[in-house]
Amino acid sequence: WLQYRQQGSKLQVQYLLLTRKNTDCASLFSQDFLNNNTSYFNSSQPTKIILSFSISLPPSQPPSTSTFLPPSLALGSKPSWVKQLAQALLQVQDANVVVVDWVYGASLAYHMVVENCKEVAIQISVLVNQLQNYGCKLESFHFIGVSLGAHVSGFVGTLFKGKIGRITGLDPAGPMFKRADTFDRLDPSDALFVEAIHTDSDYFGISIPVGHADFFLNGGMDQAGCSRSRFLSMYGYVICDHMRALHVYISALNGTCPLTGIPCSSYEDFLKGRCLGCPGRCPRIGLLENSGLTVSPLPQQNKLFLLTTSAPPFCAHHILVQLEVFLLDKSAEVQVILRTGGHPETEQRLRLQTDSTVYRRVIAHPVPLCEIDSIQLKNTGARFYRQGDIHVVYVCISEFPSIGEVEPLCVKKIDVRRGSPWNHDFVQLCDNY
Ligand SMILES: *[C@@H]1O[C@H](CO)[C@@H](O)[C@H](O)[C@H]1NC(C)=O
Ligand SMILES: *[C@@H]1O[C@H](CO)[C@@H](O)[C@H](O)[C@H]1NC(C)=O
Ligand SMILES: *[C@@H]1O[C@H](CO)[C@@H](O)[C@H](O)[C@H]1NC(C)=O
Ligand SMILES: *[C@@H]1O[C@H](CO)[C@@H](O)[C@H](O)[C@H]1NC(C)=O
Repeated sequence: WLQYRQQGSKLQVQYLLLTRKNTDCASLFSQDFLNNNTSYFNSSQPTKIILSFSISLPPSQPPSTSTFLPPSLALGSKPSWVKQLAQALLQVQDANVVVVDWVYGASLAYHMVVENCKEVAIQISVLVNQLQNYGCKLESFHFIGVSLGAHVSGFVGTLFKGKIGRITGLDPAGPMFKRADTFDRLDPSDALFVEAIHTDSDYFGISIPVGHADFFLNGGMDQAGCSRSRFLSMYGYVICDHMRALHVYISALNGTCPLTGIPCSSYEDFLKGRCLGCPGRCPRIGLLENSGLTVSPLPQQNKLFLLTTSAPPFCAHHILVQLEVFLLDKSAEVQVILRTGGHPETEQRLRLQTDSTVYRRVIAHPVPLCEIDSIQLKNTGARFYRQGDIHVVYVCISEFPSIGEVEPLCVKKIDVRRGSPWNHDFVQLCDNY
């Protein structure tokens, strides 16, 4: 990596410090401020290092992964989420929050940015060394990196031989990194605990697990509430998915509701209800030690899945819908709708085949099972032919991971006719919530 330094540094790396004593106004930070005792930095407290990034939108076309202008700093203006993230962190933990900012020529090619990442990492490692001399313990460092910042954190981790405490990658960048050697990207050997939240793995994000705990939100690719059409919204089309990891993380720190990941080998298995919980508690997004993982040694590839809603605080309840029908002679489709007064309804279409009678599907609902008021089934088959009645043996809904024993809610023996939806109201009360 020394060769990058010898190119002569075009990078200007700056550090800003936020603590509980100055949550609103970041102060410039460097070793000099430590030396003359004019800083709020407190070496007895943990240090969070935020690797700041925002994305410069290309002017017209959506970028292709080979030629897009890379995520780069909005020159001059600090992205507003940095402050939000720092404040959310300081609400949970009394810590030194150091924001790393770097500035370079605006339109570099992607590979140049990757190389710059290593230069930034070297410069940060100099600061970490100084802070160590000042009394900070390596394990008390927690790096939080968005996009490319996640890999920069990984490079710093490599320089300290994996001894820094924690790295959180918020949708770690994908292009160029997916096939990279672990030395050249974030991986579990970079810190004592490495976690990542994936929200755009089909585009800007990386699709492979990179930590001890990898949370794949809604499968990790497309997020609820992000526009799929570039004509509707450029932000929605280009970076909404990518930035969702950050917003969900801030929400999780805010702590209004738990964002719990379910270990599963694939998203498909997760959606089919093949993975319903964990021994003990499932890992959670946030600042819990090791995200709540208690196994030792930590797993190397732990894919965790969860569904979210489209807006803060993003938490959804995972409802498993189980449906058994009598054997069909033509394939069919039913729509399952869950309703709770005052909330948007949740709907899911199920394709029914002639060779199978039992169907399982996990859906996201904004409230817990005990608050679901009603279920509706609609027979929504193809329009071209008359779809016959669907004879349902039972339909059950249950919630997972469940807190204690909660019985599924079931309704048995129903005929669902085309054109006349079937409804059932649940009368239930929530206790223990
Ligand atoms: C402390 O050091 C910083 C950076 O060198 C400098 O800007 C500041 O004026 C110094 N403060 C005092 C009180 O010397
Ligand atoms: C900074 O201040 C603390 C207490 O206020 C003192 O113990 C320490 O010696 C000071 N350090 C320097 C370098 O002045
Ligand atoms: C630094 O943090 C420690 C531990 O939280 C606390 O006891 C101490 O008072 C703090 N020092 C200052 C100068 O705020
Ligand atoms: C976090 O909480 C603060 C107030 O406590 C609120 O202003 C902010 O919008 C919340 N952020 C998210 C993402 O939920």
